Amino acid sequence: MRQVPRVEGEAEAEAEHVVQRRSAERGPGVGVLMRDLEPLSARPAALVGAPVYADYNATTPVDPAVLEAMLPFLSVGFGNPSSTHSFGRAARDALTGARSQIAALLDADDPSTIVLTGSGSEADALAIRGAVLASPRLHTGAHVITQATEHPAVLAAVDYLRELHDVRVTVIPVDETGRVEPEAVASAITEQTVLVSVMHANNETGTVQPIAQIAEIAHRHGALMHTDAAQSVGKLPVSVKELGVDLLTVVGHKMYAPKGVGALYVAPGTPLRPVVDGGGQEAGRRAGTENVAYAVGLGVAADLAAQALAAGESERLRRLRDRLHQLLEASLPGRVHLNGHPEHRLPNTLNVSITDARALTVLNDLHDVAASAGSACHAGTDRPSDVLTAMGMSRERALSALRLSLGRWTSPADVACVADRIAAEARPVERLPR
Ligand SMILES: Cc1ncc(COP(=O)(O)O)c(C=O)c1O
Repeated sequence: MRQVPRVEGEAEAEAEHVVQRRSAERGPGVGVLMRDLEPLSARPAALVGAPVYADYNATTPVDPAVLEAMLPFLSVGFGNPSSTHSFGRAARDALTGARSQIAALLDADDPSTIVLTGSGSEADALAIRGAVLASPRLHTGAHVITQATEHPAVLAAVDYLRELHDVRVTVIPVDETGRVEPEAVASAITEQTVLVSVMHANNETGTVQPIAQIAEIAHRHGALMHTDAAQSVGKLPVSVKELGVDLLTVVGHKMYAPKGVGALYVAPGTPLRPVVDGGGQEAGRRAGTENVAYAVGLGVAADLAAQALAAGESERLRRLRDRLHQLLEASLPGRVHLNGHPEHRLPNTLNVSITDARALTVLNDLHDVAASAGSACHAGTDRPSDVLTAMGMSRERALSALRLSLGRWTSPADVACVADRIAAEARPVERLPR
């Protein structure tokens, strides 16, 4: 990628000027003091001298503390956690520690409720296929409810059940902000419903779903509740108790651990058939010798996330996100339209459509900012996002959507630079083909 030197001072000054002018126009209380919004820890090497990274929902850099904790388990700590000798014991202890750290972040009492997996997609498959295949209702008209803006891992798991096991599937629509109406779940649910799977927060828009209300409806009808919390864990306080869920998906590479590791919270007593059968690891819920180093990484990432949340990271990100939004609106008056829920939204996620600026064109010309037009799964394709389409958005508006997602090392200067560059690229009005 070609790197353009960043003119931080210039961008900041211009951005500050725009915000001050807009603040003066709108009255007091709109301008935000940015000085206390610097990242809590030093930038990792990967982000130094690199384009500004504004794609934390696609993946996060590995936190240097996570990497440091993992390395011994790729060398001296090589034991198989199922072995009875001291090498095995050390590996087993490391897994127990990681499970406790993940459980603590999720407000789960029992570390044995955490099943380690090889990805978020696998955790989703285990939750959905595993719960339905273990149900006594599997052969007597089992029914599953999900919703339209789920990650493909969830939609594929319910398709698998429909195609191979004749499971009836209801996909609940969302409103124009991407929210599911709990009443719609209440209308669709029957005594045959085995599972309701609704994501906690959407990866493209950040819209947060009313999970506790939906879980209450599911339980009233004897169904299990799964939520894919890939995007919310670490960004918001997530409590399995408050959400009232039976199954919850965690993804390492969205929370500063490496790619290729995830976890599924499984409430005590939840019946689950493994998706990978074999040696009985993970208390018979997921076969395969555990990836100790990656589990340790996920555990430390969970610890760091808990510390960051306690230090006010959600609020820091929310203020940076809102500042970015203000700057874009100030530079492109009347052309910036928020996609997603204005309030029930991840604090780090800003998805906006800019009138008459096609997202892929803007992104291709943004050499010093890394952002995306939607999920990384269909990045680069010139078709409107399924998530935005499900929200009833026109093709034109969906093709103009930029997903800007901030994270641990986003600084006020980064936000000013992102706004400045996007405004510059979007300025020459480009008419979309109608
Ligand atoms: C909401 C959501 N669920 C699941 C996943 C899948 O996680 P993984 O990439 O680890 O399979 C992602 C990753 O993009 C996601 O955003």
